[in-house]
Amino acid sequence: MQKTLNLCNIGTPFKLLFTGYLCTIALGYLLAIAQILFTHGMADGKIGLSLEDVVYNYYGNRSGSILEKKLNGSMKMNASDAERFKIIQWVRDSADEQTFNREIKSIIEKDCLMCHNEHTGSLPNFGEFEEIKELTKSDTGISYASLTRVSHIHLR
Ligand code: HEC
Repeated sequence: MQKTLNLCNIGTPFKLLFTGYLCTIALGYLLAIAQILFTHGMADGKIGLSLEDVVYNYYGNRSGSILEKKLNGSMKMNASDAERFKIIQWVRDSADEQTFNREIKSIIEKDCLMCHNEHTGSLPNFGEFEEIKELTKSDTGISYASLTRVSHIHLR
């Protein structure tokens, strides 16, 4: 009589194959959770995913800009309280280019440009005033264009 195949008797190479697959998927899953916690989870400034985080990320915090939201959220540790206050003040006052060049540019160059430059394609390049200006507008959450782009990349 032919023995049926089951997990016990499939032989070591197949067991290793399945184990390898499960470990890879598990690692990917853990990294995905960490990524969600550090990007979306910090939207309300507190660690851990909450209802507010989902609202802030997808509906937006319509009383403020993305720049302000990030400076109080996942970008909080990149600048001192005084510097963050200065940038937020500028966003709320006028977000104009003259004041930017006079007071804000030096902070951005010191604290943000090492990540937000022209070489990191997926992040806005803060070397360009226009790209910062865009983030000072009222935050209406993730755009449909950005959602389709992310879905497209992930489905591929
Ligand atoms: C260590 C690298 C690093 C530094 C330094 C950094 N950022 Fe970021 N920034 C990121 C990453 C990665 C993301 C995308 C993930 C996220 O949104 O948290 C991001 C996202 C952002 C966004 C959201 C962009 C968007 O299109 O949604 C803003 C606004 C922002 N950063 C502002 C700043 C400001 C202002 C500073 C300086 C005070 C700064 N960042 C410093 C890495 C950095």
